[in-house]
Amino acid sequence: MAESTHEDLESLPRGGFRCRLCHVTVANKPSLDDHLRGKKHQRMENLRSVRQAQELRSVFVSGFHKGTPASELSDYFQTYGEVVNVVMDKDKGVYAIVELQDREVLEKVLAQTQHSLGGQKLRVKPREKKDFKYTPPRKQGPAKREQLSPEKLAQKLCQADDVDAQMSLLVQLFEFSEGERRLRDLLVTLFQEVFLEFFPGSAILPFGSSVNGFDVSGCDLDLFLDLEKTKKFQASAKSPTETPAEDRASPEPDTRSEDSILSDIDLASATVPEVLELVATVLRKCVPGVHHVQVVPNARRPVVKFCHKESGLRGDISIDNKLALRNTRFLQLCTETDERVRPLVYAVRYWAKQQALAGNPFGGGPLLNNYALTLLVLFFLQTRNPPVLPTVARLKELSENEEQTVVDSWDCSFPKDSTRLEPSSNTENLCALLAEFFHVFEDYNFAGHIISLREGQPLPRPSVLTSEAGSKLKLGPFNLQDPFELSHNVAANVNEKTALRFRRCCQVAAKYCRSLQYQRKSSKGKIWGLVRLFQPGTAEAEVLAATGLVISFPLTLPTQPAQSHELLCQAGDFHHQWFQKVYAGIASVLQNVLKCSCSEGLEQEQEAATDCKQGEQLAGMTTEQPPAGCKRSLDEEEAGSSSPSPKRPRTDALFPEGRSMTWNCAVWHKVWLGRRRVRRQLRGPQPDPEHTAGSLELEAKVSEAISQQEGEGRPADPLLQFTIHARAGASASGERETRISLRFDPVPEQAVAFQEFFHFLQGFLPRAVEQQLASEA
Ligand code: UTP
Repeated sequence: MAESTHEDLESLPRGGFRCRLCHVTVANKPSLDDHLRGKKHQRMENLRSVRQAQELRSVFVSGFHKGTPASELSDYFQTYGEVVNVVMDKDKGVYAIVELQDREVLEKVLAQTQHSLGGQKLRVKPREKKDFKYTPPRKQGPAKREQLSPEKLAQKLCQADDVDAQMSLLVQLFEFSEGERRLRDLLVTLFQEVFLEFFPGSAILPFGSSVNGFDVSGCDLDLFLDLEKTKKFQASAKSPTETPAEDRASPEPDTRSEDSILSDIDLASATVPEVLELVATVLRKCVPGVHHVQVVPNARRPVVKFCHKESGLRGDISIDNKLALRNTRFLQLCTETDERVRPLVYAVRYWAKQQALAGNPFGGGPLLNNYALTLLVLFFLQTRNPPVLPTVARLKELSENEEQTVVDSWDCSFPKDSTRLEPSSNTENLCALLAEFFHVFEDYNFAGHIISLREGQPLPRPSVLTSEAGSKLKLGPFNLQDPFELSHNVAANVNEKTALRFRRCCQVAAKYCRSLQYQRKSSKGKIWGLVRLFQPGTAEAEVLAATGLVISFPLTLPTQPAQSHELLCQAGDFHHQWFQKVYAGIASVLQNVLKCSCSEGLEQEQEAATDCKQGEQLAGMTTEQPPAGCKRSLDEEEAGSSSPSPKRPRTDALFPEGRSMTWNCAVWHKVWLGRRRVRRQLRGPQPDPEHTAGSLELEAKVSEAISQQEGEGRPADPLLQFTIHARAGASASGERETRISLRFDPVPEQAVAFQEFFHFLQGFLPRAVEQQLASEA
């Protein structure tokens, strides 16, 4: 009787098992034994033996005219002996599997060197040996979970008893259903079948969220096509005598015949984009149900993207990503080591997605990718006291000889099995861990350190650069070192703004986690626990509410007249005058260029200054100086006057006064809409050199024209009314650099309508003010 092999079985987190042969999941070892003895499993094993026998007497046929009926192929092969069955590739009609009566007929067919049908030369070869995968005849559950609306999710979470229960529920609601897992298995099998026929010896291996323990219904299917063996086959087919015997495949597949897809390409010397093009061709022509195939050759890891028509599943295939298989196994190991890992990662991932901090689908853009975010959670767990997870260096120490693994010259050694790891003595619950995660990262110096999962601690920036010979980690505002590929900063794409937003959102979340609303279920039916953390953009809204709408931009101070020690007071006057000029310039742009009304208002200086400063921090501006508008301490004052550096006047300290300004403004027409078109009309076909693009005179005419389009004269009421609080200060980036921060406060009922105008001003105002000052100079 057929035997089940250990490849049929997969261990799952928390002691469960999955039988891949039958697509059955069981909770523990005794249930697994029952299943293996049961009827279903026995039936599947028999079916596998039958299928494998069929495979051994079948041939793979291609090269015939598209649309050739199965009966024609059957008639053709009947000339060698009995044909039992012909299975055509239904979707694309470019290949067929012909099952013959027995091995004898098969040998006769294969002995014939040339086959042709309807004037076409046929390519006939034995089937590649593959793992058996059973396709159940009836559906067992949906292939994708029903999309859970945010309201439904909130409702379900609110019903849980405590935050720990909410987090476990989150995993259950998001992870793959049995149907979805099965669909993915089947797709992988389908790819494997087809690729094996075209790339003998190849293997299709899933990695990433489909298999790393952090599966979310509908997530991408990341696949790695391993062509190592195919390359060896090809090499041995080319020069059999030069290839070492152990590298030669037996029996050698047909990679040389002129109609083999591989005859077009030498895998050993082909570039990655060339091989990917070939992979894309196989996908387009030969894999049923696959569409939207697209090669992306310029990504850090080039891939072929595809979509599976029936399920809508998206995925990509890479051919140069062995490290990803290894880090996928590492993530699995972490989930198996401690059962708190999965719920915590699911909660942080969903929070970050809702706050638009992470999870950009195509890996581009400035957000953290899910892999990076997951590593950040694992790092956090390594740094708890006592640790929840061991460091990667510790895992290496625990690994045995046969587990020593090097991939692309990076050490990727860790134990195969989580049972060999010491259980953690940390007893913190999920609720506390999540709150601590936010607390740890709310003030984290992401730019100043390198987060190392290998060491389980932050490393000072320079030491990594010297510790790994020849490797250069691309450092930036967010430095998170890959646990294996030590020269790779997995957050290198994150820009300063996102890094700051990440911290700011952690601050807001940490503050919320200290409240009873987070910690306790509401008895009055209000939202509680995770639910508020998951509200989209809550953190962003709180950040905006705290900082207002701020535009902050640098301006270079004109060269100051030669100074001497005694002339510092005059230097002070010089700065004072400069800032007054800047304010006049801003007012002029608003009034003369944008046709706004603008009158000086009363300044609540301290408050405005604080708000502007928060805005600067949010926008990633330098804020090392004491907040402008704040009085200097006596000590500072004395130090400033007793030992000033004649070469480097401290612009921040020189002018504590007169740096704030407030205007009450109104805009009467939609001067921010359609400017480009009006500008083009005004310039005419031959632009007047005086009206060069973007000149303030032209911009004023544009505003005028837009106002006139909307009707003669001013309407009775302004479109928008708002206050601007301005603050000028020094910037740390250079002694002549100053920075202007403008905080906009629309009247409350116009807050939403004002956004559009504000976005326009963000681009327009800094340039226009600079031009205004330049024209005056
Ligand atoms: P993703 O960031 O897509 O993570 O990277 P994910 O866990 O699959 O999450 P989804 O698909 O967005 O839901 C996919 C895999 O690519 C490898 C890792 O193996 C990761 O699991 N990867 C990603 C790297 O090896 N390095 C990277 O910098 C990024």
